[in-house]
Amino acid sequence: EKAGYKHFMAKEIAEQPVVLADALRHYVQDQHLNLPVDFTGVDRLTMVACGTASYACHVAKYWFEQLAGLPVEVDIASEFRYREPPLSPTSWALFVSQSGETADTLAALRYAKEKVAKIVSVVNVPTSSIARESDLALPILAGVEVGVASTKAFTCQLTVLALLALKAAVDRGRLDADGLAKHLADLASLPGLMNHALGGGDYPEIAEELAEAQDILFLGRGSMFPIALEGALKLKECSYIHAEGYASGELKHGPIALIDARVPVIVMAPRDALFDKTVSNMQEVMARHGRVLLISDAQGVAEAGSGCWRTLTMPQAPDFLAPILYALPAQLLAYHTAIAKGTDVDQPRNLAKSVTVE
Ligand code: M6R
Repeated sequence: EKAGYKHFMAKEIAEQPVVLADALRHYVQDQHLNLPVDFTGVDRLTMVACGTASYACHVAKYWFEQLAGLPVEVDIASEFRYREPPLSPTSWALFVSQSGETADTLAALRYAKEKVAKIVSVVNVPTSSIARESDLALPILAGVEVGVASTKAFTCQLTVLALLALKAAVDRGRLDADGLAKHLADLASLPGLMNHALGGGDYPEIAEELAEAQDILFLGRGSMFPIALEGALKLKECSYIHAEGYASGELKHGPIALIDARVPVIVMAPRDALFDKTVSNMQEVMARHGRVLLISDAQGVAEAGSGCWRTLTMPQAPDFLAPILYALPAQLLAYHTAIAKGTDVDQPRNLAKSVTVE
């Protein structure tokens, strides 16, 4: 069942290039998006989910807003449903769930029914309650995910959401055929980039040292901020080490008080337009003797890696898709740190794969 891997989590991390390519084949045909949606006239998207699925929504917010100019609100389901948020009849609500059975997400969907123009869900289990109760359910095609820590479902959720954002950009007149073709070619390169990323990096050695820490911070800016949140959640649930993700620019508004030589700070920063800003936040950490692990591409590591405790070099990726690629080091750090700590990787204490209670 584990196909020679020690844990389902390792198997599911390794499967990502293959399942992501499957999802792309399903939704992209002959340079066209095979998505039965039309965003014309939609003036707002409300996205609701829990845990890792909610971080996929947070990344997608950057895409929908930047590529399609469509305003997006993201909420965690357990807050959304009790807040009684006003929803407009010209908006859509989008629910993201691996299992399709998460009680809070299902309740949020039921709340949104009749209040919005369309209920769309992005699910891994097409027969699930959330899929059945949606106007349209888009499968992520990740295959069965057994490990409690969501890995391949996350990157497949991101892929389907990226395609939806491109569809919205086309429908809203923000992206012409050439622009779409360029983004689709970039997406098609992702499985190869993922294979490359999965093949490198001295994760077991880094994890041995992370396993000694009491607290670990993850920093990211822009669409890398939700990946910092995901890195912290994955590490917490797998290794039981306290971890937090912050937007790099927020550091000086409080969390920098935590920094000393014992605190590893994992900085997720591809060499993009925000890189210099993130590096200056990273230098503030180093000035306080924080141990920085910089995750960047070769150019980023060459420009800013000196003085870092560790670096991990990722393949160069198109800016738009970097969050999907950088999910992999987040998963691998959590996995190897859990191994170093000797925790139950596939079934962490106190957690269930599908949370069907409120
Ligand atoms: O099945 P769902 O996607 O609705 O589950 C949502 C969360 O419970 C889930 O993503 C959880 O945060 C994972 N264990 C994280 O790895």
